[in-house]
Amino acid sequence: MNIYEKCVQSAEYIKTLADANGAIGLILGSGLGPVGDLLTDKTVIPYGDIPNFPVPKVEGHAGELIIGNLEGVKVICMKGRFHFYEGYSMQTVSMPVRVMKLLGIRALIVTNAAGGVNRDFSSGNLMLIDDIINFMGDNPLVGENVAEFGTRFPDMTNALSPELKDLARKCAKDLGIDLREGVYMAFRGPNYETPAEVRFAKFAGADAVGMSTVPEIMVARHASIPTIGISCITNMAAGITGAELSHEEVAETANRVFNEFKSLVIELVKNI
Ligand code: HPA
Repeated sequence: MNIYEKCVQSAEYIKTLADANGAIGLILGSGLGPVGDLLTDKTVIPYGDIPNFPVPKVEGHAGELIIGNLEGVKVICMKGRFHFYEGYSMQTVSMPVRVMKLLGIRALIVTNAAGGVNRDFSSGNLMLIDDIINFMGDNPLVGENVAEFGTRFPDMTNALSPELKDLARKCAKDLGIDLREGVYMAFRGPNYETPAEVRFAKFAGADAVGMSTVPEIMVARHASIPTIGISCITNMAAGITGAELSHEEVAETANRVFNEFKSLVIELVKNI
């Protein structure tokens, strides 16, 4: 079975349980998982039940697709995502985005936790992803082009939707949120970057570094899904303050800004 056929099979199974046509896709990064619990009239589908879907391996990352209403708007949430550092291929990591496309999503919101490279940022800031740098050493679009989704050589000028970026700025302003903006550079992980790599990232034009999101954004762009990305700067990247990094710090900050992050995502969902 090729990638397209596998995605069709996954989508067909999901369609027997819930209708996500016209929904907004939401990929909930570290700490944002509880947003999935806010949905009403929801159908919860464990990843393990979906044919061809991989199952996440990282503790603390639940693996459920949740279809329902968020403040009256139909959404389909990925609670828990797949990471390249877990050993999955880039195609596998991004496959759920293609399934969501087949289910009929009209926009995609991707979220993550990231390390701040830009010294004007501080831990706890939210950052609108203006652009991305794929530094993962691989690419989800490699291999035979899946023409059912898009073209062989997709343009990445507007990988993140300019209209949705404007909307995010407006939503943040309305909510009184100090939304930063910048370039998100993805490393493969799973280790946090070295201080030298962070200096390199800064030199390359990055404002934040992380280990996810880029494959999903690339596949979404290939499939012409209007996409927006928001990072939670959970820590300053290695070498910036001299402090050592830990997953505990990342989780703690993500929890601290959960309410703000959640309100921004909800405001976006209501206005897209
Ligand atoms: N680097 C990479 N990924 C991350 C970081 C970081 O500093 N913080 C949260 N996710």
